[in-house]
Amino acid sequence: MIAIQVPGDKSISHRALMLAPLADGTSRLSGLAQGADVAATATAMRALGVEEAIQTGPEFLEVTGPVELRDPDAPIDCQNSGTTARLLLGLTAGARVTATFDGDASLRRRPMARVLDPLRSAGAEVRELGDPGRLPVRVAGGALRAIEHRSPVASAQVKSALLFAGLSAGVPVTVYEPGPSRDHTERLLTAMGMSVETESLSDGFRVGLAVSDRPPHPLDLQVPGDFSSAAFWIALAVLGGAGNGVRIEGVGLNPRRTGLLRVLEAMGAAIDVRGRGETAGEPVGDIVARPSSLTGVAVPADWLPTLVDEIPVLACIASRAAGTTEIRGAAELRVKESDRLAALHANLATLSVTCRELADGLSIEGTAGGLAGTINSHADHRIAMSFGVLGALTGSSIRVDNRTSVEVSYPGFWDELQRIERRREA
Ligand code: S3P
Repeated sequence: MIAIQVPGDKSISHRALMLAPLADGTSRLSGLAQGADVAATATAMRALGVEEAIQTGPEFLEVTGPVELRDPDAPIDCQNSGTTARLLLGLTAGARVTATFDGDASLRRRPMARVLDPLRSAGAEVRELGDPGRLPVRVAGGALRAIEHRSPVASAQVKSALLFAGLSAGVPVTVYEPGPSRDHTERLLTAMGMSVETESLSDGFRVGLAVSDRPPHPLDLQVPGDFSSAAFWIALAVLGGAGNGVRIEGVGLNPRRTGLLRVLEAMGAAIDVRGRGETAGEPVGDIVARPSSLTGVAVPADWLPTLVDEIPVLACIASRAAGTTEIRGAAELRVKESDRLAALHANLATLSVTCRELADGLSIEGTAGGLAGTINSHADHRIAMSFGVLGALTGSSIRVDNRTSVEVSYPGFWDELQRIERRREA
């Protein structure tokens, strides 16, 4: 059994870096994700005036608040990180800050209207400097009205942007969403003493944030391992590419993130999960995954928000399962770091896997034959890592282009893959 530790959770790290400066006192954050996406958030927060309050060590920060955010001297470069851009648009729109947000070519293509429109309805001054509904965007933050929004998509970034806007502006927020998007913001705010209400409705979920007359409490947070990073090693193990299996330690087990485990269980995977407690309201534990004989399944569309980032690796797993795997309700994948449905379809076809691209998903026929070809990762980290897993299976001959894209979420990914390949042969 190969023991593995994965980087800190990216979603939680972004949020902790944005929320800690608002708290009244010193927050201690350890195990923060070290990839370029979270680094973009840390750099942005420094540019917004948090600089003096941050003491750095490896993966460790102490942040003393409350910090009054200030206008940055230059546009904030969110690089490849949608979470940085959308959440900071919300946070600054509610604060008295004027700032311009921009990103790389991929982020400039991604939709921002889903955040800009509800912010505008609440009275925020947000203005696109280029194409409508896209970065770059200039925010002139100020007084907002109470926020009430029905999001047509289950998006944690939309929900969190609005919660952050309400928090920084001191106005109440109600967001309705059609599915169970990740709830890290709600859990962190609750851990910081804020009054967050969540309700399951017949057609989705409602989240409410009440106005508080005192600032949030500081956070004492050991960021759990990122389930989305663990997913690659779970995949490698169940496909038989990690000897007799892996044990991944200290992983975040938030049920709104672990939908892949439900799907793999339905496919017949040998996976055990052992809880180890909680940090700032987030469940943490160990995952053991062993070689398994897998059968294709139809993934229920309403599970999608709980495995939205794991569809690339699931599609690669499905290419080795017996029979057909059908993924529907995944249209959001077209507006991630790349059009992931198109990228998965084209790359699986390159490997001679029979795959149909649907408007909102994929239908994949598993094969036991050898996989060979060159993968166009579209500089998308999750596409690169998913096919990296297939490339590590015995009998595969796969070259992944643009391997450095993994730096955004998992800088040590290729080294870890090599280590596991050496260990399984030992
Ligand atoms: C994230 C939310 C998800 C996810 C992204 C991270 C977050 O995006 O795909 O990788 O940290 O809030 P959406 O909110 O757009 O679904």
